Amino acid sequence: MKICCIGAGYVGGPTMAMIAKQCPDIDVHVVDINAQRIAAWNSEELPVYEPGLDEVVREARGRNLRFSTDVDGAIAAADMIFISVNTPTKTFGMGAGRAANLEYVEKCARQIARVSTGHKIVVEKSTLPVRTAEAVKRILSSNEHQATFDVLSNPEFLAEGTAIRDLLHPDRVLIGGESSAAIEALVDIYARWVPRERILTTNLWSSELSKLTANAFLAQRVSSINSISALCEATEADVDEVARAIGTDSRIGPKFLKASVGFGGSCFQKDILNLVYLCEYFGLHEVAEYWEQVIKMNDYQKRRFARRIVTTMFNTVSDKKIAIWGWAFKKDTNDTRESAAIYVCRDLLEERARLHIYDPRVSKDQIIRDLQQVMLTQDGELPPKKAELIDNNVVVEPDCYAAAEQAHAIAVLTEWDVFKQLDFRRVYHSMQQPSFVFDGRNILDHAALREIGFEVYAIGKGG
Ligand SMILES: NC(=O)c1ccc[n+]([C@@H]2O[C@H](COP(=O)([O-])OP(=O)(O)OC[C@H]3O[C@@H](n4cnc5c(N)ncnc54)[C@H](O)[C@@H]3O)[C@@H](O)[C@H]2O)c1
Repeated sequence: MKICCIGAGYVGGPTMAMIAKQCPDIDVHVVDINAQRIAAWNSEELPVYEPGLDEVVREARGRNLRFSTDVDGAIAAADMIFISVNTPTKTFGMGAGRAANLEYVEKCARQIARVSTGHKIVVEKSTLPVRTAEAVKRILSSNEHQATFDVLSNPEFLAEGTAIRDLLHPDRVLIGGESSAAIEALVDIYARWVPRERILTTNLWSSELSKLTANAFLAQRVSSINSISALCEATEADVDEVARAIGTDSRIGPKFLKASVGFGGSCFQKDILNLVYLCEYFGLHEVAEYWEQVIKMNDYQKRRFARRIVTTMFNTVSDKKIAIWGWAFKKDTNDTRESAAIYVCRDLLEERARLHIYDPRVSKDQIIRDLQQVMLTQDGELPPKKAELIDNNVVVEPDCYAAAEQAHAIAVLTEWDVFKQLDFRRVYHSMQQPSFVFDGRNILDHAALREIGFEVYAIGKGG
């Protein structure tokens, strides 16, 4: 059995490494057009940071796991081809800002059609709008070599930061398809390590739609608790106490009730926008509006946090130094896509704050790229004034202490565990007075910080 995976990103890399680890007899070839990324997968410094990933890759790489840029060769040799390419929100034309850009998926389907002979199983691993498989099937069927295909949908539910644990012990694996033989072939792979009762099989369309729905429900919980956090701040209720009180209700459950500066990541926003677009396409305007509110609430939460920093610091942060702790969209990943930090820092920069940023896993280049990207005009240009602002007002620091030195305030934007274990007396004495802490993740010991002398603002904490 030979597997090929097109796309060596946050999903393709870890999922294929896990399959290769669990199935030493299956040859797994991961390919990408990004040669730099492939070189990193073949090095000691993997392009994706995930706890436990190094060990899994080290065990299988060179045995039955390969990374290369030979897309044609890998497709031609494979019995089963996973499509794990990116499906970002469209930025142009019809559906811009909402619909998924399926250009990369379509290019993969065309390449598979061009290169394949015999029979192959094509697996959609990327998150796709419902009914994409129909288009994929049509493209595949128009090949010139009489090749035949079965198309399956097998969306990935891993969460970044816990990808290896999620892949080892998934709540469920979902496989949608029409051919029972093809479904069985994929079930047999997962069944090597996932209990059979956790492998759900459905029709193609339910599988495609379930992934969008799962992300919409998860993001909705975050926006729901964040909306309540604003009310807590106005009423002296405590959002963590409210979350505990409602989370013990078994119908609600305790997970995903942590209030914060807002959700980020490459998926939640993109997938909800995609859902909104689909609903509008099918004339379901009320349904579209309902889900769009989840995104609006998230934008509000990020803006509200930045505004709170400004108003608390006597209505001006101009020329004030603010330490930014954390840039990744969540802890235990180096992924910064749609990170709340990007938007909060953009707003603070617009107010002329001086930002000193530290993240344990994100490089200076990435931070600067993210800021440049968020300041682009609609035409995709970086105005010289914005470029100057980034050059003059942003410093990337080697640790939390350096970032906080002589700062007026600290803003915690990612919940990295290391931020909880610092010498806060040392931090306090190195800062300007009064010293503010804005805890956008509610991870610090606020009472202890106040004891030291900090003025603390936390999400959803009145008073
Ligand atoms: N990141 C997550 O946590 C997560 C979780 C579940 C599902 N997903 C979905 O999985 C898909 C991939 O996400 P990701 O985060 O891994 O994206 P990514 O951007 O990290 O990786 C995608 C890779 O595909 C490559 N690629 C694009 N077109 C190609 C082509 N024609 N040939 C070869 N390579 C090509 C890109 O170079 C890139 O390296 C998306 O649809 C996403 O929604 C992501």
